[in-house]
Amino acid sequence: MSLKIFKDLIKLTAHIKNKKLRAQVVNILKNPQNNNYPNEPVSLEDCPGGPWHHTYRGGLVDHLFTVTTLSLEIAITLKEIYNEDINIDYLVASCLLHDIMKIYDYAYIKGKNKVIVIDNTIRHAEFGEQFLLQKKIPLLICKIVGQHIPWRGEDVIDMTFELRILLASDKIDSNALFRNTLLFDNYIISSIDF
Ligand SMILES: [Fe+2]
Repeated sequence: MSLKIFKDLIKLTAHIKNKKLRAQVVNILKNPQNNNYPNEPVSLEDCPGGPWHHTYRGGLVDHLFTVTTLSLEIAITLKEIYNEDINIDYLVASCLLHDIMKIYDYAYIKGKNKVIVIDNTIRHAEFGEQFLLQKKIPLLICKIVGQHIPWRGEDVIDMTFELRILLASDKIDSNALFRNTLLFDNYIISSIDF
């Protein structure tokens, strides 16, 4: 059971000043269906953060919320101390959407009481970038989402400040709730166990 709910994610979009971008992000969070996948997704509300972190129902909502909140705090600090030019709109949008395609990594079993792992790879970053490009999200945000995991097996070329902050927050939060935390509830069944 997650600590945050879907409405909490939507509230965070208020940090995106650009109205068009904010509306796009809200729309994608509410309708993340991607026809390029052959399988049916689980809902964002039911999706775990992954097989290794936030491994419970709603774990992805908690993870997206925490990564976005941490990133905002880091950005405010870096701006204040180093006078860095950080695009908060792009940062918040990237954080909220960076793992959105993880909904296709799982499928429901047993009347939605548990989920099974469909894809244990890191393709959610690659497919996330392509999906957001189709949705006409600004290119830099798409690149940040695509590069938050080095799926191309090459060095990240556009290591922007926004991407650095997302990578740091993502690492902190995934390590914080790695594996068996108090919230661990055997929600995910691997294909090996099934
Ligand atoms: Fe993540």
